[in-house]
Amino acid sequence: MITGNEIKPKIVNLVGENAKEVISKDEKYIATTTKALPAVVKEAKGVVFEDVDGNILFDFTSGVGVVNTGHSHPKVVEAIKKQAERFLHFAGTDYYYDVEAELARKLVELTPGNFDKKVYYGNSGAEAVEAAIKMAKWSTGRKFFMAFIGAFHGRTMGALSLTASKPVHKQRFFPWMPGVVHVPYPNPYRNPFGIDGYEEPDELVNAVINYMEYVFSHYVPADEVAAIFVESIQGEGGYIVPPKNFLKELYKLANEHGILLIDDEIQSGFGRTGKWWAIEHFGVTPHAITMAKAMASGIPISACVYPAENDFKVKGAHSTTFGGNPVACAASLATIEVLSNGVIENAAKQGEYMGKRLKELEEKYEIVGDARGIGLMQATEIVKSKESKEIDPKARDEIVERAFKKGLLLLGCGESAIRYIPPLVVTREQIDSAMDILEEAIKETMG
Ligand SMILES: Cc1ncc(COP(=O)(O)O)c(C=O)c1O
Repeated sequence: MITGNEIKPKIVNLVGENAKEVISKDEKYIATTTKALPAVVKEAKGVVFEDVDGNILFDFTSGVGVVNTGHSHPKVVEAIKKQAERFLHFAGTDYYYDVEAELARKLVELTPGNFDKKVYYGNSGAEAVEAAIKMAKWSTGRKFFMAFIGAFHGRTMGALSLTASKPVHKQRFFPWMPGVVHVPYPNPYRNPFGIDGYEEPDELVNAVINYMEYVFSHYVPADEVAAIFVESIQGEGGYIVPPKNFLKELYKLANEHGILLIDDEIQSGFGRTGKWWAIEHFGVTPHAITMAKAMASGIPISACVYPAENDFKVKGAHSTTFGGNPVACAASLATIEVLSNGVIENAAKQGEYMGKRLKELEEKYEIVGDARGIGLMQATEIVKSKESKEIDPKARDEIVERAFKKGLLLLGCGESAIRYIPPLVVTREQIDSAMDILEEAIKETMG
């Protein structure tokens, strides 16, 4: 039995017979998704999970950014059980119940901006983004959208139109929603302007803003743009932290043209960066926010929170059967309570420490080109050499695989990066243990 307090993984028989059995059934019957490693979980607590063959591993992916409170946090589990006994579903879209209304009140309070807001509930990140697209179209009457190269906003057809991080997401799916224009994101480490964004952050921000204005003055009438979608820290695109001023300048540009700035916090929200929302690190109040993943510690739910004046105002313009599911709302309320009681502070503290350890790896090893992130949303970019900055996805994958064999579950992001996103309840000892494993995996990969 695991407790979640283990300070080291323990590998006895990785990908044993039990794991193989599940994997072969899965491969036969489940649609191809994005499977990364043969990890087959039996039980998970906090940062730790036991697989079906008795191996004990650390999950530094948080189920891809979902279990910020740790796997199966007892307070969240208790809230789910209690709600399940009351009722599982009652069509919150058509009728009323307490937890749905209370969670909306809480989200309005927690999101930046002291103005009247409305909450739309969906079931996945992509659905929150779809709702944001429709809200922006409906309320502004405008048709165009802007988003960033490297962005990931989901895979349903509207959200996919905004996504631009890997060709595989879009191949064979054209046509997607027309009217979306992508512009470069201010990636300080590598960008099409050839600017070193760590040395010259303002120059990089100006290059991007000027580029957007150039687009406005040549082919996208700014007064026909409904919204700009942005991730305050790009997630799937490689955990890219923009220069400090970028979001302020972007907000200014959006406001000048009456465009909504929609902040996608689906991966970066709910305390991941040591604040409730990543955008709080940049001192900007966006017009609207999308959230999902960590919102209910693993029970599917998402939301788009936007100004009340931009609400649909007519019944039936947008809705979904399971939106605001009571069990998910109860789990989300418990999640918020757990995060509010010291867990976000822990993310800031442990994140700073993990960031230092990753920076040390960048200084020490030629193939660690860049270490970046805020709080417990960190990544390293693996390259052939620091000088060439040439990406090395093969070495990246080898590091991830070697780490797995030693008991540390990691996940790539971007073209050649590895993300480090443990649950926010992680301890310093667990980070040390994980970073030691990572260092061994890097050394072995370098040969
Ligand atoms: C920033 C961002 N937006 C949207 C999504 C889509 O969320 P989902 O996979 O729940 O549809 C993701 C998923 O990784 C994401 O990271």
